[in-house]
Amino acid sequence: MSRRGAIRHFPDPLSMNRRAAGYVAEVLSSAVTQQGYASLVLSGGSTPLRLYELLTGQPYAATIPWARVCFFWGDERFVPADHQDSNYRLAWGALLSRVPAVGENIYPVPVGLGWHESARAYEAVLKKFFRERAGSSEGPQARFDLVLLGLGKDGHTASVFPCSPDCCGQGWVSAVQSPEGVQPRRRITMTTARLSKSERVLFLATGEKKDIVDRVFGSGEAAGDYPAGNIRAQKQISVFLSDQGM
Ligand code: 6PG
Repeated sequence: MSRRGAIRHFPDPLSMNRRAAGYVAEVLSSAVTQQGYASLVLSGGSTPLRLYELLTGQPYAATIPWARVCFFWGDERFVPADHQDSNYRLAWGALLSRVPAVGENIYPVPVGLGWHESARAYEAVLKKFFRERAGSSEGPQARFDLVLLGLGKDGHTASVFPCSPDCCGQGWVSAVQSPEGVQPRRRITMTTARLSKSERVLFLATGEKKDIVDRVFGSGEAAGDYPAGNIRAQKQISVFLSDQGM
């Protein structure tokens, strides 16, 4: 189980996102070759937007077997799917509406239900997916091929915030509140345990996150104090940091 992410530095966001796009294409194509499908967990927030847009263009778009890729969200704001704060809306506009992804392979968080009901329903969707695709929802096969994650300046990732310890439980999906002042407050998030049931994890961060990246993924022993520091991966955790801001 891989723990400490090796930080890769890039001079600017574009070079970081180009390398990230190549990495995503490599991992997805390899997974489809090996198992007939790939499972990709998308990140919310603004950092991955440029990556999503790059993936719709060449050379990446032509190398990814989009119809075999299954898309999930590591977290979602509990708002309607067409709300400006929706992570689904962001990924749909920047990526999914612009590539030949297959509708039944896109698994958004069901925000049309009650808040906690939505978390329970998403957990059931994930378990059904792995039972059908990997033969079991509990075994070592029930791992995502790649999880994309952002990083907050407080060390949160997805919607696992330092103030929401219940996200470190063993369940797969939680309904949580973000800290005061971090809107929208009501969130649905995969837990660190579920996010860590992955072959590979890629964190993306731009210049203004340099300090927290160093604290979580650098030499400091305080990594475990931050939710992002508790993420694991079966094969590899990568951290791409552009020295310039967005
Ligand atoms: C969300 C994300 C969250 C995000 C970080 C970084 O739903 O907001 O999952 O974890 O990745 O807050 O956000 P930025 O990329 O906008 O800085």
